Amino acid sequence: MSGSLSGRRALVTGGAGGLGSATARAVAARGAYVIVADRDGAGAAAVAAEVGGESWELDLLDTSALESLTLDVDILVNNAGIQTISPIEDFDPAAFRRILTIMLEAPFLLVRAALPHMYAQGHGRIINMSSIHGLRASSFKSAYVSAKHGLEGLSKVTAREGGAHGVTSNCVNPGYVRTPLVEGQVADQAKTHGIPESQVLGEVMLANSAIKRLVEPDEVAGLVAWLASDQAAMVTGASYVMDGGWTA
Ligand SMILES: NC(=O)c1ccc[n+]([C@@H]2O[C@H](COP(=O)([O-])OP(=O)(O)OC[C@H]3O[C@@H](n4cnc5c(N)ncnc54)[C@H](O)[C@@H]3O)[C@@H](O)[C@H]2O)c1
Repeated sequence: MSGSLSGRRALVTGGAGGLGSATARAVAARGAYVIVADRDGAGAAAVAAEVGGESWELDLLDTSALESLTLDVDILVNNAGIQTISPIEDFDPAAFRRILTIMLEAPFLLVRAALPHMYAQGHGRIINMSSIHGLRASSFKSAYVSAKHGLEGLSKVTAREGGAHGVTSNCVNPGYVRTPLVEGQVADQAKTHGIPESQVLGEVMLANSAIKRLVEPDEVAGLVAWLASDQAAMVTGASYVMDGGWTA
């Protein structure tokens, strides 16, 4: 049993930044060839060049293009995601649909496209970037929480169907991670709560955390790389929380 990903082809969606680029680096460092997919083509190309892989400019909202797709990858990381924060009664229906499309329907279509190759070779790894919001709710995040809960279900069904074919499927569930997305929210939260930015982490985002710091992207990426390896062959249908005790 080895942690090496040598000889494996990995596709990482949302790979241009944040958790996606950290994941691309982590799996490439263990020997995988990485396809960095993102709607940000230039960002994806930069990460691909860095890790010696290739980029794929891909908008996951274009689901019709994904319906006829076939993928010959050994590792699929469904990572791309967006956020909209609003009370349900004001939630823009188009924004709700966008989140469900990018974060649930597109992962389904990519899993669907990847499984035939994985089944044919008797090996595959599906890793879905869920969240603590795949397991718990927060106010004003109806679309995000719904999409992540749905992704948890998709991941478990994939685990059930894939088990006989050597394909595992798991979720990774980070708490607040130090990415541009979250760093941008610090200023918004400070304004909304009327407190200095220095207090946002402790009093808002990390109020429920046992460990009062953000998760680092590299920490999550290391978990993804392990789940992609042979060492995790018996891990499937699972959801691995990395949240400093937020959900404890
Ligand atoms: N940052 C956190 O605290 C945190 C915590 C838990 C889970 N997550 C999850 O991790 C994943 C990555 O989040 P992040 O913080 O790195 O965000 P990010 O905004 O830094 O990166 C998201 C990437 O997805 C890409 N993307 C967005 N819409 C797309 C589309 N339609 N088609 C293709 N690519 C698209 C963006 O271009 C970007 O490169 C998301 O699924 C998010 O829900 C993040």
